[in-house]
Amino acid sequence: MRNKIKIALIGFGKMGQEIDTLCHESENFEVVSVSFKNINDELDIKGIKKADIAIDFTSKDVVIKNIETIAKLGKNLVIGTTGWYDHLDKVKALVDKYQIGLIYSSNFSVGANIFFKMIDFSAKLFAKFPEYDVYGLEIHHKAKLDSPSGTALKIAGKVNGLHFTSIRAGRNPGFHEVVFDSNADGITLSHQAYNRAGFAKGALVAVEFIKNKKGMYSFEDII
Ligand SMILES: NC(=O)c1ccc[n+]([C@@H]2O[C@H](COP(=O)([O-])OP(=O)(O)OC[C@H]3O[C@@H](n4cnc5c(N)ncnc54)[C@H](OP(=O)(O)O)[C@@H]3O)[C@@H](O)[C@H]2O)c1
Repeated sequence: MRNKIKIALIGFGKMGQEIDTLCHESENFEVVSVSFKNINDELDIKGIKKADIAIDFTSKDVVIKNIETIAKLGKNLVIGTTGWYDHLDKVKALVDKYQIGLIYSSNFSVGANIFFKMIDFSAKLFAKFPEYDVYGLEIHHKAKLDSPSGTALKIAGKVNGLHFTSIRAGRNPGFHEVVFDSNADGITLSHQAYNRAGFAKGALVAVEFIKNKKGMYSFEDII
């Protein structure tokens, strides 16, 4: 049996716990450190030093500080936290300076990433036909802090003139829809996450991808 990959979880909210459960069931991964399990906790530097790689699902308010601290320790990172993409240049500079590997995504679900490719393809086709208008909708559970979602911002970057509406209510783990609409007909593309398992599995796929690499990647590089 090969050695398990040692994981440091940064954030132990809904996603951190989902990944922890998957690791317990897995022969390939083990969680050796958890940071921010309790309110007022600090980063578990001692534990992170023992890990092969860190996975961050925290918040935009703390993620950049986490990346900086963990990069200085020379550990590779998987970043699932959203809402920080205005700081991409700063993070890229940290990745280069400390010679680590980092992979990030607003959405680690394989289905969602295939959905992105479908949007890319559709947007190219519809670009020749100005009679088609395009709009989007995303729905997330009421505890989600960022609005619009990182995924919605990503989709908006792919489609010119996209009008997006965000709803925060109920329990939905993540719904995104893009509609190309004209007087004559319309096409609706949508992705519904049924639970958080797809994000957690994708984050572990990202761990396997980045564990021996240096440089900055996004999940689309894997797809
Ligand atoms: N990329 C993807 O596929 C994907 C999928 C789902 C979610 N996300 C993103 O991942 C992030 C976490 O989502 P979640 O649903 O797991 O959230 P969550 O349940 O609110 O958990 C967030 C975790 O981070 C900690 N945290 C938050 N702010 C902190 C701060 N300022 N200092 C220290 N610790 C802090 C929380 O600690 P406390 O509980 O003590 O506050 C908690 O452990 C969000 O940005 C979300 O948008 C990404």
